[in-house]
Amino acid sequence: RSYLMYTLTGLKLKNPTILAAGVLGTTGASLCRVAREGGAGAVVTKSIGPAPKTGHPNPSMIRLDCGFLNAMGLPNPSYPGFLQELEFAKENSAAPVIASIFGGTPSEFAEVAEGLLPSKPDAFELNVSCPHAEGYGAAIGSNPCLVEAVTAAVKDVVNVPVWVKLTPNVADITCIGNAAESGGADAVVAINTVKGMAIDIESGFPVLGNRSGGLSGKAVKPVAIKCVYDLYTALEIPVIGVGGVSSWKDAVEMMMAGAAAVQVGSAVYDRVDVFSEIDSGIEAFLRRKGYSDIKKIIGLAHEVV
Ligand code: DOR
Repeated sequence: RSYLMYTLTGLKLKNPTILAAGVLGTTGASLCRVAREGGAGAVVTKSIGPAPKTGHPNPSMIRLDCGFLNAMGLPNPSYPGFLQELEFAKENSAAPVIASIFGGTPSEFAEVAEGLLPSKPDAFELNVSCPHAEGYGAAIGSNPCLVEAVTAAVKDVVNVPVWVKLTPNVADITCIGNAAESGGADAVVAINTVKGMAIDIESGFPVLGNRSGGLSGKAVKPVAIKCVYDLYTALEIPVIGVGGVSSWKDAVEMMMAGAAAVQVGSAVYDRVDVFSEIDSGIEAFLRRKGYSDIKKIIGLAHEVV
């Protein structure tokens, strides 16, 4: 697999497929399982915040024909409650472990990042993009000034790479990407879920306990491809692509749009070894096309005139 080995924001990855935040990321053991059995090149935790949070009422996640709709509401045990899990993951994971964090202000983000430093995460991913968490997430991530301030505040207190995860629920995602870059981000991650809703026609009620939620999976892939394509043009820092990737073809498409690496979320609910499957497919594709390494396909769609 040497074909696929490379460095992303200073982290050595054995392949470009990364577990997306939120899926199998709440325990050290599940993160390790995705790295070892699943073959992920890196794993991202469920987002961790400044205080314990129970999240939104059930049902908080439903499967649709075209993906998943969720409104988990950032449930998490807070950073002191997650330290041991992160430490276990770091000691036992076959791949780098990235801590996803959130807060309501720049100083809360910095507090959570600093609080997790003793467990030595390999990088931080700043979640400024949850579409349904009042005061958190997209409330911050749709405001360029706040995104810059949050990024700078975390960069100030850590010396590992900082990735910023962006929301597609804005008029122009490149403005937000530029703000993250100005704040000192080492990479951006695009996209978080797309705002959505499902209604039960018998009762007439929205299905999710929170009513409104975020759509992931197959339905959002073209949205993600377009966001990654635009960010690749607008930014100097790497763009990590996420949204509806479930096959090697999806991953190659995302990389051709400009993704330096690809995250996989929804597809992991069907099979944990989706990472190995995608990596074998990418490797066979590179071989068949005569590309000596994976960097050759990153942003390729921009070169076609
Ligand atoms: O769709 C999402 N759901 N995106 C997030 O960033 C958080 C998550 C949740 O916990 O609700």
